[in-house]
Amino acid sequence: MNILLIGSGGREHALAWKIAQSALVKRLVCAPGNPGMASVGECRDVPDPVAFAKAEGIDLVVVGPEQPLAEGLADQLEEAGIPCFGPCKEAAQLEASKAFTKELCIEAGIPTGRYGHFKDAEEASSFLETFEPPYVVKADGLAAGKGVVIAETLEDARAAVSTLLPLSGSLVIEEFLHGREMSVFAISDGERVVRFGSAQDYKRAFDGDEGPNTGGMGCISPPPHFSKELEDQAYATIIEPTIKALKARGITYRGVLYAGLMITDTGPQLLEYNCRFGDPECQLLMRRLTSDLVPVLLAAAQGTLGDQEISWTDQAGTLITYAAKGYPGDYQKGSEIEGIEKAEAEDSVVVFHAGTTLEGETLTAVGGRVLSVTALGSNPEEARSRAYRGAGAITWPQGFYRSDIGA
Ligand code: AMP
Ligand code: GLY
Repeated sequence: MNILLIGSGGREHALAWKIAQSALVKRLVCAPGNPGMASVGECRDVPDPVAFAKAEGIDLVVVGPEQPLAEGLADQLEEAGIPCFGPCKEAAQLEASKAFTKELCIEAGIPTGRYGHFKDAEEASSFLETFEPPYVVKADGLAAGKGVVIAETLEDARAAVSTLLPLSGSLVIEEFLHGREMSVFAISDGERVVRFGSAQDYKRAFDGDEGPNTGGMGCISPPPHFSKELEDQAYATIIEPTIKALKARGITYRGVLYAGLMITDTGPQLLEYNCRFGDPECQLLMRRLTSDLVPVLLAAAQGTLGDQEISWTDQAGTLITYAAKGYPGDYQKGSEIEGIEKAEAEDSVVVFHAGTTLEGETLTAVGGRVLSVTALGSNPEEARSRAYRGAGAITWPQGFYRSDIGA
């Protein structure tokens, strides 16, 4: 098979790493890819994926990030008769529109916080008064992680209304949910839903969950506080009814559905959906998946999800994000990184690239989240100490990482 993988982050490096291990794969093109992906596939600039897929005999397109899906890449590929792992534009609204998702949840009886959807700042401000602090204000559209404000005071919440409203023309105000956050994954072909692992993400920039929200500073999988009972509840009351509710609207969801859940005192509730794998969570899932990834991706894309084998190691995994100093705010680009081979010489360590480039022979940082150091172990503590030994072997003075992932 020939596979085209769209994306260039740590998530896509991990997907490429796993796809390349499949005996089914003859050629893997990563568009545009990154220096890490260059060692498992062929990195190319592909401005028009549909034309490229047609011309090069691509059998499956795997889309990593949400943006191309929200713009309708899967729809264009379907029209051209090319299987795509990643939902169509209508289904991708689950991530692209918070209001769409909230409305669907209420209609289908899916547990989620009380909310209101507003186009008018005055109305939004009055609605805020019906909540206790902290207040949750969200821009309705895709906002590259900058569309959510959790405000401690009514004054700050009102200020957030003023900043977020112009971003997408409407916003969602919702109840603050207390509990523990969990990233839960499912793969669907629009009819069937298969469970595809879970992880706990560390969202804040600094140790002790201090500092601003980031894309993810590390994660652990399996998550220690997610019992079989909670898992069953999450799929039965949230994820499965969502795929069904979409289907009832005539929308076929083909791809991975990532549920950001809050495990509250009364059980799992939905915080948000993403129409893609979580990053960094995906990277640990790829480390822990022992079965072939490709048949599952292809079956989801073709609507034939059934008895494909999905198996996971019993081992625990830890992932540490190595980010540029200053991230998620301003950071410098162009600093040199050394020691990836040394890190990977440690037991069970694999390093995935996110924001790196090669300048001549020199590996250079060009992003906020730059590397992920992953390790498995027979228990969480072993995974954690291996991952930290790996991170310690890398020389990158302009980078930082949290020291309490999995602690
Ligand atoms: P979102 O992009 O909607 O996931 O929001 C980003 C982060 O804000 C989430 O990962 C949570 O940590 C936090 N958050 C969002 N909505 C809520 C909520 N209703 N209650 C508590 N925390 C929230
Ligand atoms: N790690 C959170 C995300 O991928 O959105």
